[in-house]
Amino acid sequence: MLNLVKVARSKVLFGSAIVRNFSRGAITKSDHIFVHRDTPYNNPSLKFKFNPENLEEAQKIIAKYPPQYKKAATIPLLHLAQKQHGWTSLGVMNYVAEFLEIPPMRVYEVATFYTMFNREPVGKYFLQVCGTTPCQLCGASKIFDTIQNHLGIKLGETTKDKLFTLVEVECAGGCVNAPVMAVNDFPYEDLTPEITIKILDSLKAGIIPKSGPQGDRKTCEPAGGLTSLTTEPTGPGFMLQPGL
Ligand code: FES
Repeated sequence: MLNLVKVARSKVLFGSAIVRNFSRGAITKSDHIFVHRDTPYNNPSLKFKFNPENLEEAQKIIAKYPPQYKKAATIPLLHLAQKQHGWTSLGVMNYVAEFLEIPPMRVYEVATFYTMFNREPVGKYFLQVCGTTPCQLCGASKIFDTIQNHLGIKLGETTKDKLFTLVEVECAGGCVNAPVMAVNDFPYEDLTPEITIKILDSLKAGIIPKSGPQGDRKTCEPAGGLTSLTTEPTGPGFMLQPGL
């Protein structure tokens, strides 16, 4: 009975598509099992193709691989296509498969495995807030609350004006500058609720704030000053017995 309840809860109706989540937390745009059902905004009749600049870029990417291994370009091409289209629709995946002359299933397998590929539409600014331990210890939950309250959305949702989508992600690789949020491809670090609101307001106004650490420190230098390497380095033989 409990299992039936769990299964029922894990089925979320999204438009007319049934989406089955891997987890029971907020819906993200990538971490659900891929069961495609045609929707008005995602079906095979909605074609995609690279614009002239990306077509040129795609040719350059493919040229890096031997002709018989051009399928190795699946990830970079999907990434390029997602950047152009905003998300990875069925049309995007089918186009990449055609482009690489491989069966569409080969592309579906990749796109459904990697969480960087959003298989549902996202807002213009895709906010990925890190919820892993170091960020949580440095106040990530306050950042989640701030964003949700300021934008009036919950985790996994998009604002009505389609400007922002908020998701929680695992370690963003900037733990030393926790808490961290990525806005599209750029990390914003050392966040506080006040700084987060400033970033969101700038984005709303169409201004992209400078990414990286938002406090006074440069890159990932210690926030409280040096704690090691404070003396001249010792030379070879340091602390060894004279006989050695
Ligand atoms: S834990 Fe948040 S960036 Fe690593």
